[in-house]
Amino acid sequence: MRVTIGQIREMKEKGKIIPMLTAYDYATAKMIDEAGVPLILVGDSLGMVVLGYESTIPVTIEEMLHHTKAVVRGTRRALVVGDMPFMTYHTSIGEALRNAGRFIQEAGAQAVKLEGGEAMAEVVHRVVQCGIPVMGHIGLTPQSVHQLSGFRVQGKTPEAAVRLVNDARALADAGVFSIVLEAIPTELARLITRKVNVPTIGIGAGPYCDGQVQVISDILGLFTDFVPKHAKQYARLADLIRKAVAEYVGEVEGGSFPTEKQSHSIDEGILAGLEQE
Ligand code: KIV
Repeated sequence: MRVTIGQIREMKEKGKIIPMLTAYDYATAKMIDEAGVPLILVGDSLGMVVLGYESTIPVTIEEMLHHTKAVVRGTRRALVVGDMPFMTYHTSIGEALRNAGRFIQEAGAQAVKLEGGEAMAEVVHRVVQCGIPVMGHIGLTPQSVHQLSGFRVQGKTPEAAVRLVNDARALADAGVFSIVLEAIPTELARLITRKVNVPTIGIGAGPYCDGQVQVISDILGLFTDFVPKHAKQYARLADLIRKAVAEYVGEVEGGSFPTEKQSHSIDEGILAGLEQE
């Protein structure tokens, strides 16, 4: 049985901290699921850590659906959230509903995430009304990187802090089942977490959120273009991969790979017949 949004909300009520990770492919999703992570986000960070774009803005809905399908196939227990990409929920409520529906109907996700606070409350309300669970996302919202003048910490002035509290309240009232708080000061995230009745999931928002989310490629040390301040590397897979690839290349070039163990045999009689032809 998959984790439900009811169980995620219950975790806040019971004071149980919610771990969440991103995933973009079948094999990684399977490992994360088997490790017992209850919430998996197919983030549009896909664009940066898998597809090599400079931001999340170029990511298309077709790319997101393709990867969401793979993650859904790799999971049995986790609740899978598909991240709605830039401009797939902004132009009209009808468009937002259609695109949210594609994540559920075509890709098999159980929920969608979209960026924005008060300004997105009506869209969130309508999507939720149609039976699609929505996760909110406020603070540093990477799809608005140009409007925010770069990837920077949010909510540092009194006005900006009040705006974030209002954004969180508006999303909760609109029916989100949880809200990502990205790159906001620890004490502000703590206050928002106390003020809303849905779980907050922090990334660069300190330890007092109801849950934490990280990009899998950051915590495994797979994405090495830069390491965000909020990330901790629990492994350095890029180093391991480089070492393994160099070893493979050395063995191929030196003729020690493949050996008999990695090869297939054929009946001697068949070979002898072929030799005579
Ligand atoms: O796209 C993503 O991975 C995200 C998380 C960082 C929350 O939005």
